[in-house]
Amino acid sequence: MTLRLMVAVSVAVLGSLQFGYNTGVINAPQKVIENFYNETWLSRYDMPISDTTLTSLWSLSVAIFSVGGMIGSFSVGLFVNRFGRRNSMLIANILAFIAAIFMGFSKMAYSFEMLIIGRFVIGLYCGLTTGFVPLYVGEVAPTSLRGALGTLHQLGVVVGILIAQIFGLEPIMGNDSLWPLLLGCIFIPALIQCAALPFCPESPRFLLINRNEEDKAKSVLKKLRGTTDVTADLQEMKEESRQMMREKKVTILELFRSPLYRQPILIAIVLQLSQQLSGINAVFYYSTMIFEKAQVEQPIYATIGAGIVNTAFTVVSLFVVERAGRRTLHLIGLAGMAGCAILMTIALVLLDRVAEMSYLSIVAIFGFVAFFEIGPGPIPWFIVAELFSQGPRPAAIAVAGLSNWTSNFIVGMCFQYVEQVTGAYVFIIFTVLLIFFFIYTFFKVPETKGRTFDEIASNFRQAGGESSTDKHTSPEEFHSLGDSQV
Ligand SMILES: *[C@@H]1O[C@H](CO)[C@@H](O)[C@H](O)[C@H]1NC(C)=O
Repeated sequence: MTLRLMVAVSVAVLGSLQFGYNTGVINAPQKVIENFYNETWLSRYDMPISDTTLTSLWSLSVAIFSVGGMIGSFSVGLFVNRFGRRNSMLIANILAFIAAIFMGFSKMAYSFEMLIIGRFVIGLYCGLTTGFVPLYVGEVAPTSLRGALGTLHQLGVVVGILIAQIFGLEPIMGNDSLWPLLLGCIFIPALIQCAALPFCPESPRFLLINRNEEDKAKSVLKKLRGTTDVTADLQEMKEESRQMMREKKVTILELFRSPLYRQPILIAIVLQLSQQLSGINAVFYYSTMIFEKAQVEQPIYATIGAGIVNTAFTVVSLFVVERAGRRTLHLIGLAGMAGCAILMTIALVLLDRVAEMSYLSIVAIFGFVAFFEIGPGPIPWFIVAELFSQGPRPAAIAVAGLSNWTSNFIVGMCFQYVEQVTGAYVFIIFTVLLIFFFIYTFFKVPETKGRTFDEIASNFRQAGGESSTDKHTSPEEFHSLGDSQV
């Protein structure tokens, strides 16, 4: 571990922090910003905003972030191969500045439209950055540290959520006068990145494989590793790219057409849905409102508590995920979340009769978040990477990302409406979904840990029946290419 590597990784991880921050930031100040929408409406149209308009405008402000994220995550490939990994991160900061301006000045301009546009633009940034950061970190890190440094992205995200929740406290920035700064202060990490990235190295893998500049790659590697002999690293990269060439790249369309991939891609999609439709972002976007309905006295502090539990269990899962089976962890997580969702429903239903139920709701939400980080949080991405070899993997990850952001949007957009209709029973819906995903995982998802793509594929062929005689299933196509994550 050299200082140079440490700096490069830390600067990159600022992007993960931004993603977490913008996921969590609209939770605590919901009331305050809704007041601003109301006032703006009043001054424009001479009447207070109706409840339904306010709900739609707020849901849109929350959820349009995921529309940006969807477009951004789909565009990652356009940037990284043309501009390089480091410069892509640098360029993306333009979006962070634009978003900061739109959101930071929306109050001054009496315009909630600006806030909504800003949320869309920062969504674009976050979609891009969640592609850039793991890629860059994975490529500057030596093989022995790749797993450990890769987890920093995940950690950056949950710490970002926590920071946003703390900044959103009323005495800090979650008040009438300072909320524009709460949303706009994202220009600070962007500024730091812009100042520091030019001094960080470009990914040596990009220089060698995409640009064919071996000398530059060599000198970058020497600085990153702190040694003069980097032939082993170079050799490994060359070998990896040779293997990649051997396998034809699969397009998204082929992914759905070929019987070879149909079953795995369906699993990848359902697992992403299980992550988002579990209701986790209902908690990250709306927990303060949920705690308020559960008559918790200091709802914002309960939200911060959820952020702390989230961070703690992310650390726990970092140690567990590598060792335990993916399928088992996912099942435990889903079952635990379903249990907590039932507890939450009981707490909300009995609230009028038993005052202590507000404490049960806190326990339920904390448990919900903890079980999420054990299973449905990290596992779907793991399994997608492990179900597909190098050829179809980029397409599979793009499809998985699309499913993830789409279901994220649905939850962000619909939660408040559904909550208004179902009242205390809103978590029953998540319970039903979680049970469905549990059953699906139990019957359809294979264990991927420690198995090659060949073994996993033959599993699907046996289960698929008629596709076992299909001409396309040549073993070469499914050659195992090691455990490279990118
Ligand atoms: C909007 O503001 C008006 C006047 O201050 C208030 O009476 C009304 O309850 C507010 N509406 C909402 C939905 O908060």
